[in-house]
Amino acid sequence: MKIAFTSCFSAQTFKDQPVWTQVGASGATHLVLLGDSAYYDADGSSMGAVKAMGANDFAIHAFGRLRDQLNQKEFAKLVRKTDLRIHPIWDDHDFLWNGACGAQIQGQPSYRHLLDPTRAAFQAYCDALDSHDPKTFPKAGDPWASGVPEPGYRPLMLSNATDADGAVMLHLTDGRSYKTKGGEDAVLGTAQMKKLKKAIEDSDPATVHLLASGLTFEARHGETWMDCKAEHAAILKLAEKRRIVILSGDVHENRFAVPWPAGAWSLFEATSSGAALRTGVTVGALQRNWGLVDITKDQVTIELSQLNMDTRRRVIDRRKWKLL
Ligand SMILES: [Fe+2]
Repeated sequence: MKIAFTSCFSAQTFKDQPVWTQVGASGATHLVLLGDSAYYDADGSSMGAVKAMGANDFAIHAFGRLRDQLNQKEFAKLVRKTDLRIHPIWDDHDFLWNGACGAQIQGQPSYRHLLDPTRAAFQAYCDALDSHDPKTFPKAGDPWASGVPEPGYRPLMLSNATDADGAVMLHLTDGRSYKTKGGEDAVLGTAQMKKLKKAIEDSDPATVHLLASGLTFEARHGETWMDCKAEHAAILKLAEKRRIVILSGDVHENRFAVPWPAGAWSLFEATSSGAALRTGVTVGALQRNWGLVDITKDQVTIELSQLNMDTRRRVIDRRKWKLL
C-alpha cells in the first residue's frame, strides 16, 4: 500500500499547486498532511494581526484560508478522488501562529478565545476532506460550531495483518494543543503519550507504525521532539520492540534523519515539508516537496521527491527493521 505525505502550503500566494497532481498520479490510497495546511499568520497576514483578532474575526480568517486551500484547483481535484483518503494534523501556522503552544495559550486571557474558532475550523477542514467534496466546507458567513474539542491523538488501522501488505497503523498526533513553550515539559503531553504508547505496545509486532508529527523528531535547530527528553526517550523505547517510521513536516525541506538505534532495530524518520510555498513561505526557492511510503509484506520503501532534483529513496527490510 502507498501512503503519500507532505506539509506546508499556502493558497494565498501559491495559486498553482502541481504537487497534488503528482500525489494523485502516485497510486497512493492515503495522504497524510503533516501540518500548515494554511498560514494564518503569514502570506498577507501576521502574528500581530492574528493576536489582535476577536473570536469571530479569527474564525472568518481561519475558515477563509482553509476554504481557499480546499478550492485550490489541483487540491480540490485530489480531494474529490474517492480512492484516496486525506488525513490532516495541524502545526503551529494552522493552529494559531509561529511557535504557538496550546499549554500556554490556555492560560492567557488575551488569546485563549482563539482556541474555540481554530478547533472549529480544523474540524470543518477534516470533515470536508472526509466527504471528498470541498463544497461541503462552510461558506463565508455560515455560523461556526463552538465547543469543538482539540483534534488530539487519532489512531487509524490502514490495513490488517490478514491483508496483502500486512498490518499498517497510522497515528495522527496533535503537537500543538498540549505543547509547552520550549517543549521541555511536553510536545504531545501525558494523555496523548499514554494512548500512543498503549496503541503501539498492544499491537502485533509485525505491524508497521506510521507516526505522524508536525514537529521533527530529530533536528539541529528549530522546534523538535528532542526538546522534550522524556517523550523522546519514550518513543525510542517503543522502537526497541515495534516497527516505527516517523513522518514529520515543519521545516520546508525533505529529509531522512539518520536512523536512531533502538535495540536490535532502528527508528526511522522521513520529513517532507514545503508542498507549495517558498523556503521562507513567500521568499526563497520554490518548493514542491512530498514523500511516498510504499509498504509490502517484505519492505518499506520511502521516496522523497522535490522540484528539479532526483527522487531520493530508502528501503527498509521489514523483517530485520534495518535499512537494506
Ligand atoms: Fe510550515
